[in-house]
Amino acid sequence: MENNHQKPHAILFPYPLQGHVIPFVHLAMKLASKGFIITFVNTQSVHHNITKSQPNSTKEDDIFTGARRSGLDIRYTTISDGFPLGFDRSLYHDQFWEGVLHVFPPHVDELLAKMVHSDPPITCLISDTFFVWSSMIANKYNLVNISFWTEPVLVLTLYYHLDLLIKNSHFASRDKREDTIDYIPGVRAIEPKDLMSYLQATDNISTVEHRIIYKAFADVKRADFVLCNTVQELESETILALQEKQPMYAIGPLFPVGFTTNTVPTSMWSESDCTQWLSTKPHGSVLYVSFGSYAHVSKQGIVEIAYGLLVSGVSFIWAVRPDIVSSDETDILPVGFEDETKGRGLIVPWCRQMDVISHPTVGGFLTHCGWNSILESIWCGVPLLCFPLLTDQVTNRKLVVDDWRVGLNLCDMRSITREEVTRKINRLMSGKLADELRKNIKELKKVLENSLATNGSSENNFNQFINDVKIKINKKLGTVTLKHNGPSFNNA
Ligand code: UDX
Repeated sequence: MENNHQKPHAILFPYPLQGHVIPFVHLAMKLASKGFIITFVNTQSVHHNITKSQPNSTKEDDIFTGARRSGLDIRYTTISDGFPLGFDRSLYHDQFWEGVLHVFPPHVDELLAKMVHSDPPITCLISDTFFVWSSMIANKYNLVNISFWTEPVLVLTLYYHLDLLIKNSHFASRDKREDTIDYIPGVRAIEPKDLMSYLQATDNISTVEHRIIYKAFADVKRADFVLCNTVQELESETILALQEKQPMYAIGPLFPVGFTTNTVPTSMWSESDCTQWLSTKPHGSVLYVSFGSYAHVSKQGIVEIAYGLLVSGVSFIWAVRPDIVSSDETDILPVGFEDETKGRGLIVPWCRQMDVISHPTVGGFLTHCGWNSILESIWCGVPLLCFPLLTDQVTNRKLVVDDWRVGLNLCDMRSITREEVTRKINRLMSGKLADELRKNIKELKKVLENSLATNGSSENNFNQFINDVKIKINKKLGTVTLKHNGPSFNNA
């Protein structure tokens, strides 16, 4: 048996967004169940949103209380992102990201200075790949630097090889090429229209998101290990090519044990319970509609989707996030829509998505193609209707529709029409194509299940990672003592 001082102690920093906090929590649970001591750090704002969204909120200060009761050593703390709690991070998006880029890193530094000598001392840093400060902090405190990538490896690879995209004039060029990209290691071919939204930009390529991308994907190259929430068999060629550059482990899909069990609260909005309503519907008949936690849809887009749902005649649950258009826009749905679809449609601000898509009456998912949503939908064998809005979602759509054939494309955001929405919903929910998608996704579901079984690829990769990280920790502890005067953050 390992005593506490032989156990690795990792400090985890998720990106302060719903879709990143969720897989980080599952990673923390899995590492702790394999003997790691974890210190999990949320921003005060994320923490506030999670605790205020809990039913019968006792505003328990520590989201890992339940996990600790089950014997896991997961400690929890919060940190300022630089803004007051009341600051609207969704509305003042650019300011928020400037803060994450420039103001957040000194807070991280201050926290590490206080915490690194915990009992037992922290030995590993596990931070989201989008953070720009990881190698600086890892060096300063002599930590093993582990980057956690929560999206597909295809997306990581494209950012990783930004230099090749620039060199070949597929990005950051006045005469941008529009032909197929076929020179990225591990990516046989990809069309420019399938690149992440930021790499399709032409006018302004110095937005705050771009500046984060340039720094973060230079920094990831300095990580000791990269963990990815994907599955070896889903992206094998791309993974193998990246492994030639850096130690990288496909350890996904990261889900709670039992999928719908909820030991750790993670939701940043109050969850409406839809299961009773779902139970009144026939098997496979309900379409679930959600565009995730971050992206916005134009008012016109929402109207076309609403009419498409109305005319399609299918039963649906639509999670209409309060800031889906903008947090200062409250009249989101067309007048009369809720009345006209009563009984057939359930509109909620937010739900527990895992409970909804794992319900047997759900037969399709109209999604923005967030990576968590895709993994969850495959796990439940629910085919997807893809309506990507920004960032990796555009590239994720290619995997779902073109590579794995488990979903349909809805349309381009700019050309959305109610007729197309109706037509595609009906094709997704029934008919020959729907049967084919269902068959394909069941096969993919098996791939995911097998990867998590004993001796499955993700399980083996996870165990291998733990062995490798322990060796690295021992090497570090044996060679270097803590450096107190590390680099400053003036250029962060
Ligand atoms: C964004 C990116 O697009 C995604 O690819 C990246 O990995 C994380 O950031 P997001 O908009 O949050 O993602 O979507 P997604 O990745 O699908 O994550 C949303 C999470 O919230 C899912 O785990 C989903 O189960 C949950 N959710 C969503 C709910 O529990 N209820 C809802 O009503 C909607």
